Amino acid sequence: MFNLAGKVAIITGSSRGIGKAIALRFAENGVHIVVNYVRHRQDAEETARLVQERGAECLVIKANVANDEDVVAMFQQIKERYGRLDFLVSNAASGVLKPAMELSSRHWNWAMDINARALLTLAQQAVPLMLDGGRIMAVSSLGSVRAVENYTAVGASKAALESLVRHLAVELGEKKITVNTISAGAVDTEALKKFPNRKQILDTALARTPMGVLTTPDDVADVALFLASDLAKMIHGQTVVVDGGYSIRA
Ligand SMILES: NC(=O)c1ccc[n+]([C@@H]2O[C@H](COP(=O)([O-])OP(=O)(O)OC[C@H]3O[C@@H](n4cnc5c(N)ncnc54)[C@H](OP(=O)(O)O)[C@@H]3O)[C@@H](O)[C@H]2O)c1
Repeated sequence: MFNLAGKVAIITGSSRGIGKAIALRFAENGVHIVVNYVRHRQDAEETARLVQERGAECLVIKANVANDEDVVAMFQQIKERYGRLDFLVSNAASGVLKPAMELSSRHWNWAMDINARALLTLAQQAVPLMLDGGRIMAVSSLGSVRAVENYTAVGASKAALESLVRHLAVELGEKKITVNTISAGAVDTEALKKFPNRKQILDTALARTPMGVLTTPDDVADVALFLASDLAKMIHGQTVVVDGGYSIRA
């Protein structure tokens, strides 16, 4: 239906959680997948196994997206293997959860480098490989536009990420490369286990979500697939919110 067979995608942070769901959804549609991770090789290999089970090729690359040398080396491998790239999904994220008054420059730079600056380096490496146009997507959160307890550094980095998406969109439109953000509501992944009030976050999200269910990694992957398809060719520079309506509540 989406006609993506034989295309090539890199999804950063696709060893687990939302990135993994996007990798599998793309693989089901015939897209060859580059799985990226930084610490947990076993998880990345499990994603690769599931990608291959769906009939797509898979390349697993360890690279810290905040490290320029790692990113350059990763794209060198993609160039050698495929000579091209169609989709870049900048999904990997990290961050220290602390009140603003307790944040150090190191905490700030950590979040900014991994969550925001990485997209710039990734895009600079990806665009020369997007020979027939392409799609760039960044995965963000509602903390980019709202104040969430202990989320200061990550929220600010997501706001920077969404701004970068708009600037890239203006620059890359003429190359027929669309650039968009997918912003998700609370999704129960490993990332949420870092929050001491995880249960409260999930209970509140569920109670406030008009659709009556929590957003899942697969829900986010469905939107990524749509944005990758021809159906979305005129969606450009936007933030698409996937949260079952959570964020529209007063
Ligand atoms: N979960 C939520 O409630 C939620 C809501 C809205 C938006 N999001 C966003 O969705 C995205 C994915 O979140 P998630 O919940 O799926 O996270 P997750 O389960 O914690 O997975 C994070 C992934 O990123 C990788 N990663 C972390 N730091 C990296 C780095 N420096 N370089 C390369 N890879 C790195 C991890 O690899 P390793 O396992 O090797 O460390 C892992 O594959 C993030 O952008 C997040 O902000 C999440």
